[in-house]
Amino acid sequence: MPDKHVVILAGGKGTRMKSTLPKVLHRAAGRPLIDYALATAGALNPASTVIVVGHQAETVRAALANRPGLQFAVQEPQLGTGHALLQTEPFLARRTGTLVLLSGDVPLLRKSTLEALIRRHEDRGAAATVLTAHVDEADGYGRIVRNDHGEVMAIVEHRDATPEQRTAREINSGIYAFDLAPLFDALRRIEAANAQGEYYLPDLVGIYRKDGRTVEAVAAPDAREVLGVNSRRELATVSVQIRDRRNDALMEAGVTLVDPATTWVGPDVTVGEDTILHPSVYLEGATRIGEGCVIHAGVRIVDSTLGDGVVINNYCVIRESTIDPAAEVGPFAQLRPQSHVEEGAHVGNFVELKKTRLGKGSKANHLTYLGDATVGEKVNVGAGTITCNYDGVAKHPTVIEDGAFIGSDSQLIAPVRVGKGAYVAAGSSVTDDVPADALAIGRGRQVNKPGWAKGRTRKA
Ligand code: UD1
Ligand code: CA
Repeated sequence: MPDKHVVILAGGKGTRMKSTLPKVLHRAAGRPLIDYALATAGALNPASTVIVVGHQAETVRAALANRPGLQFAVQEPQLGTGHALLQTEPFLARRTGTLVLLSGDVPLLRKSTLEALIRRHEDRGAAATVLTAHVDEADGYGRIVRNDHGEVMAIVEHRDATPEQRTAREINSGIYAFDLAPLFDALRRIEAANAQGEYYLPDLVGIYRKDGRTVEAVAAPDAREVLGVNSRRELATVSVQIRDRRNDALMEAGVTLVDPATTWVGPDVTVGEDTILHPSVYLEGATRIGEGCVIHAGVRIVDSTLGDGVVINNYCVIRESTIDPAAEVGPFAQLRPQSHVEEGAHVGNFVELKKTRLGKGSKANHLTYLGDATVGEKVNVGAGTITCNYDGVAKHPTVIEDGAFIGSDSQLIAPVRVGKGAYVAAGSSVTDDVPADALAIGRGRQVNKPGWAKGRTRKA
């Protein structure tokens, strides 16, 4: 099998995006567009991968700095797709085999389709094989021109096409396989004599045909696979396609999606069987959801792990946290990074946790802030409890031991420890450690003044 080399074109300006961000860094379904091309490329195990950067080259390069094995060819100025590919010559001149050309702005291409393209290309010993698609609406795309025998003769860009050529519904996807041997000499023969004054890579097809070389075409089984992103509208269109594919796979794997049209699950997220995702749920990053969980509407979970049978009620935000089996969170709760809700624990409405462990079976059900806190098992944290963990300079820890009871509306002024089984009276400001099994009362005593109100004249 010939070596595979991948080139990804990412140098164009993306004018129609109307953006200061390079087009290939715009996100579709949560990931930069170029990630999709890189993932498709990686599946081929290529001997080399070259990205052509040009417009905002440094920004694109910086965004990809932590990806191993990528080489960058800088195209300056950007004189068209043919000119772009020519810039990879220093990396590929002495290589042989098949060059697979991908576009940084075409994210839906399936691995199987690309493999079919390469197989045909190599089986026929073609100089070039172009991936095409049959579409209803071909405006803007290059058209495939075939002769009476059905052979591919040329590709003409929309702007340069005759009215008759424009009726063709077979379009160029911008994805190709090339034999490296004749490629760079032929690229140098492309001219810029067209409507845009650019060096068009598709002109290579006409050049090869004149040279008597073999040019093949393979049609994508689904035209949506080759949708390119040139505008924000197209960005939204491909995002929805990516989401739908992801959601189909989840449902196939035994996850219930009440409303797949509003459910967004990232590519690296895992969801266990029999989990139910209600509308407008967002699962992002490295999130792992167990089996038999229920995630109610409007919940966002990022980089977090949920055990089996966890219930997240409506409108919670959960980041970088762990929730053990059978725990329940929300509605309207926020778990900030490094929170750990242990088995069977409850976090209720308007409760915020930060860097806090809530032990097995413990409850913080109402209007509470627990920050830098370690809460043991079977603790009851009453409504309105606040850990005062910040003194304006540093953060301090609060420890609440097993079985303790924190009365409502208490402030725990850290650093402070409430011992095992101890009680804190409602409305206390706790500044000193509470020994195990003690009752702490930290509030001013109430004074009743009999008849005091009678002497006052109140305006009606
Ligand atoms: C291109 C094809 C067209 C095809 C369509 C499919 C050409 C001339 N036309 O048109 O036949 O139907 O894709 O989507 O190739 N780029 C560079 N440097 C440049 C110009 C472009 O790196 O100088 C990159 C762009 O960043 C992009 C890719 O090449 O990733 C395609 O360029 P674009 O301008 O989007 O081409 P289209 O007009 O869409
Ligand atoms: Ca394009």
